[in-house]
Amino acid sequence: ERIQGKADSADKGGYRHFMLKEIFEQPAVVKNTLQGRLGSDHILEQSFGNGASDILDKVQSVQIVACGTSYHAGMVAKYWIEGIAGIPCRVEVASEFRYRKFVVSPGTLLVTISQSGETADTLAALRLAKELDYCATLTVCNVAQSSLVRESDLALMTEAGPEIGVASTKAFTTQLTALLILTVALGRRYAIDKVKEAAIVSALHSLPGTLATALELDDEICGIAETFADKHHALFLGRGIQWPIAMEGALKLKEISYIHAESYPAGELKHGPLALVDDDMPVVAVAPNDELLEKLKSNLEEVQARGGQLYVFADKQAGFKNESGLTVIPVPHSEEIVAPILYTLPLQLLSYHVAVFKGTDVDQPRNLAKSVTVE
Ligand code: AGP
Repeated sequence: ERIQGKADSADKGGYRHFMLKEIFEQPAVVKNTLQGRLGSDHILEQSFGNGASDILDKVQSVQIVACGTSYHAGMVAKYWIEGIAGIPCRVEVASEFRYRKFVVSPGTLLVTISQSGETADTLAALRLAKELDYCATLTVCNVAQSSLVRESDLALMTEAGPEIGVASTKAFTTQLTALLILTVALGRRYAIDKVKEAAIVSALHSLPGTLATALELDDEICGIAETFADKHHALFLGRGIQWPIAMEGALKLKEISYIHAESYPAGELKHGPLALVDDDMPVVAVAPNDELLEKLKSNLEEVQARGGQLYVFADKQAGFKNESGLTVIPVPHSEEIVAPILYTLPLQLLSYHVAVFKGTDVDQPRNLAKSVTVE
């Protein structure tokens, strides 16, 4: 896909599409997002801006509001904030949040997540929240002068650089990077001790290199993408913190290849979706070597037993073997804490190559805009 050409930030940098360029920029822009925020074994809270520590001292719970891919980032953050920081976290799509009656618990931080900082529903949700008794507002955003940044108490900027492709890629992984740093900052006041913080910071220091190893799967993923090109449906499965990653993988495939794709928590298969599975329905699963692996394996056996075509992005140490109906794409091993960020990349590449095979407009998919500034 890389056509030799003048490498210039205004053009595709020699890549066939902006989306592919932005997928391959992720190790560098995640490194940029970490810049100035990490010490050797701790995070640098002062990088959150003046008054941040006083605000974070007051936080007892988090409400995240976002749309689309940014909502998926919020879903991942919920697992980190509740599971590691030890405080309650709710996540909601902005277009639902802003129109319903909800309860504001004391000491709740309102977090918006947005690449553009101009998404109408997310901005409306922030403005609504500022009239209610949230303890403060924080935005994770990629555009410094955007409305969300200007109107929030705190801004945790992603340093992804301009994202041209309508399908969000590097914005998502830099959002997750920033949200993991936020998790540590919140968790210091609750369940994260210095040992845990040092372990997370070590994984963050290694993250750009870890992501670069995932990009080496590009050719292998291109090789399997063609089998998706004539399909009309696909199922993306994950468990635990990987379920939002399955959501993101399904959204990517939908929005650039126009193939209907949906995600499910793998444990839900028996409650209905299994009826969909036949040899015309590719089933994609993300399977890091975590504590849910054995349960995921039995869920996937159910798919295989019904003749489903399984594609499993699995940790090399997870013990999956290629066999009929089961294609394994081995993903480099990583610290569990950054696995959601790592497993995103192969799913981005899969959707990209399927779209290229289908000949759709990868960078400007039909019916979509880069920033939804109107309701
Ligand atoms: C994701 O690939 C889409 N481009 C879309 O879902 C996007 O994430 C959503 O519109 C939110 O945009 P924002 O991050 O700029 O607020």
